[in-house]
Amino acid sequence: MSPFQVTRTLPEDATDAALRVDVLRGLTAQPKTLPPKWFYDAHGSELFDRITELPEYYPTRAEREILLARSGEIAAATGARTLVELGSGSSDKTRHLLDALIGMHTYVPVDVSESALTGAGQALIAERPGLNVHALIADFTDTLTLPDTPGPRLLAFLGGTIGNLLPVERAAFLASVRSLLFPGDALLLGTDLVKDEQVLVRAYDDAAGVTAAFNKNVLAVVNRELGADFEPAAFDHVALWDAENEWIEMRLRSLTAQTVKIPVLDLAVDFAAEEELRTEVSAKFRKEGVRSELAAAGLELTHWWTDTEGRFALSLSTVR
Ligand code: AVJ
Repeated sequence: MSPFQVTRTLPEDATDAALRVDVLRGLTAQPKTLPPKWFYDAHGSELFDRITELPEYYPTRAEREILLARSGEIAAATGARTLVELGSGSSDKTRHLLDALIGMHTYVPVDVSESALTGAGQALIAERPGLNVHALIADFTDTLTLPDTPGPRLLAFLGGTIGNLLPVERAAFLASVRSLLFPGDALLLGTDLVKDEQVLVRAYDDAAGVTAAFNKNVLAVVNRELGADFEPAAFDHVALWDAENEWIEMRLRSLTAQTVKIPVLDLAVDFAAEEELRTEVSAKFRKEGVRSELAAAGLELTHWWTDTEGRFALSLSTVR
């Protein structure tokens, strides 16, 4: 069997249909919202890569520091022979883990982007003779069917992306992750931590304006895919800290009263002057909160590692 396989569980047109549903729901709701997953077309993914290199955006560097320092402990604690990575993208961070996980049989990257999966998968098997890669083209918030590979399995969900889910969505997501795991398997979860408000807000409102461009890119995606006539310059980028919910919100604030047409949905959307459209929630966590959310899903937190500045955490949990 070839060391590289791809399984598509997402129909080719699923993305279009899902975008239409999300835009119709979100832009006819009060307040208006759009889910953050629509930032990531090719241009948005490029902008996100630039964000991870900004001086203000610490999470990527902090998580990499932890992975570099702790991959040996992670390998020893899990003895994993299969590594499943949800939202793997370019699989950059994964290399540290794969280096440490000796005896690794199969890497299962899961992503909606077929091009990212194919590029990263081919590169990995070329670098690592003996490693199998079974890529899954799937939306990690949908129900997954994992290939039949040897255990123990380590399921990794990195980058703090769990923070982009709302609390109810997080609970459903963790329960479905739990249902994929057998006794002896483990979850490696990256979570950004609650910290000084200024540090958090700057990470989502950088001086160079890259995050503002990233935020507005969702309008370009809706324009291109649904024929809408959003004018990105007619909106301001907003990043704010919601102290009650302990999350960052990104919004787009309409500078004037305006109407946006979305022909594919046969929809006209009115914005009042100053009206805000919520485009992302990025929750920040505390150890006890992570422990209890995991426990509610039937997972037991066994390890908690932070970077030296205590900004970001990786946790390891096992099936109870
Ligand atoms: C790494 C996808 C979780 O919420 O920090 C970066 C995305 N949004 N800047 C995050 C993001 C604005 C990001 N994730």
